[in-house]
Amino acid sequence: MSNTKIIGVVGAGTMGAGIAQVAAQNGHQVIIMDSSISTLEKAKSQHEKQVNRLVEKGVIEQDKRDQILGSISYTESIADMRSCELIIEAIIEKLEIKHDVFRKLEEVVSNACILASNTSSLSIASIGSVLVNPERIIGIHFFNPAPLMPLVEVIPAVQTNSTTIETARTLIESWKKVVVVCKDTPGFIVNRVARPFYGEALRIYEEGIADFATIDWALTHFGGFRMGPFTLMDYIGNDVNYTVTETVFEAFYYDPRFRPSFTQKRHKEAGFYGRKSGRGFYQYSEGVEQPSPIKDEELGRVIFERILIMLINEAIDAVFLHIASIEDIDLAMTNGVNYPKGLLKWADELGLDWVLTRLETLHKEYGDDRYRPNPLLRRMVRSGQTFYSI
Ligand SMILES: NC(=O)c1ccc[n+]([C@@H]2O[C@H](COP(=O)([O-])OP(=O)(O)OC[C@H]3O[C@@H](n4cnc5c(N)ncnc54)[C@H](O)[C@@H]3O)[C@@H](O)[C@H]2O)c1
Repeated sequence: MSNTKIIGVVGAGTMGAGIAQVAAQNGHQVIIMDSSISTLEKAKSQHEKQVNRLVEKGVIEQDKRDQILGSISYTESIADMRSCELIIEAIIEKLEIKHDVFRKLEEVVSNACILASNTSSLSIASIGSVLVNPERIIGIHFFNPAPLMPLVEVIPAVQTNSTTIETARTLIESWKKVVVVCKDTPGFIVNRVARPFYGEALRIYEEGIADFATIDWALTHFGGFRMGPFTLMDYIGNDVNYTVTETVFEAFYYDPRFRPSFTQKRHKEAGFYGRKSGRGFYQYSEGVEQPSPIKDEELGRVIFERILIMLINEAIDAVFLHIASIEDIDLAMTNGVNYPKGLLKWADELGLDWVLTRLETLHKEYGDDRYRPNPLLRRMVRSGQTFYSI
């Protein structure tokens, strides 16, 4: 059980409001701060709505509702965060602005207070660099919507000490979340390993192998994914998804495995963001009929297998470079993006030699480093190993 009682959240937008709700529902006193009063008001009414819904559904009693809502205080002042024992920052994704907030936080809190960031794309080391005591910095990365998504990635920076890691881990586990620990590298686990789901689907489309609807059908029908890549990109927003891809590509020193797609860039430039703008890869205005897939079993299987082996190669790379443990990589993908199966377990089931042969064929055909099989995969095939004992 965690001993940390008072939780601070900086930023009351999409993520901050959700994280504050999770903390309050788990019995903490929560202080949430934002520079915008209207955002704080919105967060407050969102909390009321969400917690009232829990009463209506019979999940909690009225007493508990009052206790949860009564335990959250809303403020515009960083000085009000002084009693916090752990603070999660969830403000705008700009390093200089985060630095300013972390400097100010360190001036008001106690020496023991842990300072965490919910950043998706900045390194935790760079955020912590402005602290006088950088051993207390850590990444605590929730997924949207925070009250519903089970996964939380915990990311120690090179500066972080073991007490900070253990306290953060114990705390988030006590919130009944699935905690995975990963290295402070671009995209952490989920946003790194999931890249081929989008990137390879876009390549298949660009080569004229199939249209959006057929590629989506291949992934849902053969793979059991809840949504195909184009439907999912339209949900996430092509603006957001493209930016993540570009950031990861740059952060990996332009490794071709992460190369962004012109098709997605053009959709973004045209304002075809997806559901939120009424049009993305598909059109969402009323009365518009969605295109039908070509349900060619042979073609569908080829598409699904090409995307899956690229995802598996990426998951293997994360093991190879000690980004996280085998179990945590599989847990991250099943709990953070609802994959039907862990990719490393999937690889074992398909046979690592089969995965390697498929990658080698693609690598030979395209002559593109994007398809290079991971050295760990080669070694494991050579020695007949599997990721899990079978
Ligand atoms: N949206 C997602 O799906 C998602 C998922 C995981 C992580 N993240 C990360 O979480 C963070 C927040 O993202 P979001 O989507 O909630 O953003 P958001 O735009 O919904 O909210 C950001 C909030 O920060 C506030 N803010 C900006 N500067 C501030 C300052 N100096 N002091 C106090 N408050 C300030 C803004 O008023 C705004 O309310 C980012 O680092 C993002 O990368 C986002």
